[in-house]
Amino acid sequence: MSARQPRLLIVEDDAGLQRQLRWSFEDYDVVVAGDRESALAMLRRHEPAVVLQDLGLPPDEAGTAEGFATITEILQQAPYTKIIVVTGNGDRDNAVKSIGCGAYDFCSKPLDLEVLRLIVSRAFRLHELEAENRRLRNASATALEGIIGGSEAMRDACRLVEKVGPTNATVLLLGETGTGKELFARAIHRLSARREGPFVAINCAAIPENLLEAELFGYEKGAYTGAHKQTKGKIELAANGSLLLDEIGDMPAALQAKLLRFLQERVVERIGGRETIPVDVRIICSTHQNLPELIRDGRFREDLFYRVSEVSIRLPPLRDRAGDVAPLARHFLEQAAGRHGRVVRGFTAKALKAIEAHPWRGNVRELENAVNSAVIMAEGKQIGTDELHLNAAAGDEVLDLREVRNEAEKRAIRRAMTREGGNLSKVADVLGISRPTLYDLMDKHGLKKPTDSD
Ligand SMILES: Nc1ncnc2c1ncn2[C@@H]1O[C@H](COP(=O)(O)OP(=O)(O)OP(=O)(O)O)[C@@H](O)[C@H]1O
Ligand SMILES: [Mg+2]
Repeated sequence: MSARQPRLLIVEDDAGLQRQLRWSFEDYDVVVAGDRESALAMLRRHEPAVVLQDLGLPPDEAGTAEGFATITEILQQAPYTKIIVVTGNGDRDNAVKSIGCGAYDFCSKPLDLEVLRLIVSRAFRLHELEAENRRLRNASATALEGIIGGSEAMRDACRLVEKVGPTNATVLLLGETGTGKELFARAIHRLSARREGPFVAINCAAIPENLLEAELFGYEKGAYTGAHKQTKGKIELAANGSLLLDEIGDMPAALQAKLLRFLQERVVERIGGRETIPVDVRIICSTHQNLPELIRDGRFREDLFYRVSEVSIRLPPLRDRAGDVAPLARHFLEQAAGRHGRVVRGFTAKALKAIEAHPWRGNVRELENAVNSAVIMAEGKQIGTDELHLNAAAGDEVLDLREVRNEAEKRAIRRAMTREGGNLSKVADVLGISRPTLYDLMDKHGLKKPTDSD
C-alpha cells in the first residue's frame, strides 16, 4: 500500500498498560480502545491490520466474555485481521480458546515486550503477504474473464497463461483461425505488470510487404514519397506495453531479419532515421501456420523462431475441446441477446445437438457468428435449428454420416502427416493404405502434398 506506518489497534482498558504498549510500539501507527464498542468503532474507522487484544474488558474486567465477544465481532467484520490475544499468566485454556476463535497468536502476562514485538511484526508481515496473494488471485481471475472453457485442453492453456503472463517472456500462440489467439494475447497482457500500458496488435498477413516495415518501425519525415511527417511504428507505440505480431508466419524474409535484430538489441531505427531508440515492449506472436514446416521450406528463419517461442501455447481447435461447445454457445447467446436487446432464453434441444455435432471449421469465431445471427433472426424465445443454418443440422442421417466419415479421414491423414513429417510412404504405412490410395484421398480432401519428394 502507501508508505504510511502499519496500523496497530490496542484493545486494553488498563491505562498504565496502554501507555506502556503505546511506548513500545512507537514505530507503528497505534490506535487504542478501552472496550468492545470503541474497539469496533476503531476497527471500522482505521482498519488496522493487527489487533493486540486484552481479554478482561469492562464491564467484565475479571472475566473473558467481553474479550472473546470482541474477537468474534472483529473477525466477522474484518476476517483478515490478525489478532494477538494477551492472556493471564499460565492461562493455557484461554490461550487455546483464543486460537479456536480465530486469533492469530497469544502472549501471556507479564508481557515480554521483546517477544511481543516479534509476534506483532510477524503478524503484519503475514497480513501483507496474504493481501498480496489475494490481489494476485483476483488479478488473474479478471485477466481470464470472458474466456470460456472447462475442457482439459483449455484449462491447460489457461494455466500456462497464468504462469507466463506476469513474466516478460516472448510468447507464441498457435492455433487455427478463430481459436482465441488474440483473446489469449490480451489476457497475457492484462496479467503482466504492463497492464496499464498499451496493447497494440498488428496483422502481418493483412499489410502489404512494402508498408509493413513502416507500420512496424515508423519513419522520419521525407523518408520516402508520401512520408509527410515523422511517424512512430507499432513497436514504439507499444512501449511499456505489449505488441501482438499476429500471423508472424506471413512476415516477409527481410522483415524477419529486422525483427530479429530488434528482439536482440531492443532498439528501433525509424525508416530514414539515424537515431536508435530503445523500446521496452513485450512481444507476443501468433500464427495459424506450422512454423517448423515453414522453416523446412526456407520461408521462416529458425533463429527468429527460437527467439519468439520462448514459451509456446497451443490453442486446440474447437472440435477437440470436448464439452466446451455448449457453454460457449450459451455465452455468445447471452452476449448477443444483450447487444441486440432481444429476449432469447436458450436453444431447443435439437438445436443444441446440432451445435455439438457441427464440425466448426471456423472454430470459436464461426460459432460466435452463427449464434449471433441466430439471435437476430430468432422469432421465438428459443433458438431452433432453422435459425442456426448449420448444414449438418437438419438431421439428414446419411449426409451426416458421410460428413463424419470425411472429417475422420481427413483428421487421421493430417495427424499422420504431422507425425511422419510429411513422409508419404510412412504416412501410407501408418494409415494402412497404399500410396496411390493416399494420393487419391489427399486429392479428395484438398490436402496439400509436400512439394519436395520424400
Ligand atoms: N475461449 C473463449 N471464450 C470466449 N470467447 C472466445 C474464446 N475463444 C475465442 N473467443 C471469441 O471468439 C472470437 C475469435 O477469437 P480470436 O479473435 O481471439 O481468435 P484468433 O485465434 O485470433 O483468430 P484469427 O486467427 O482468425 O485471427 C473472438 O470474438 C473471441 O472473443
Ligand atoms: Mg486473430
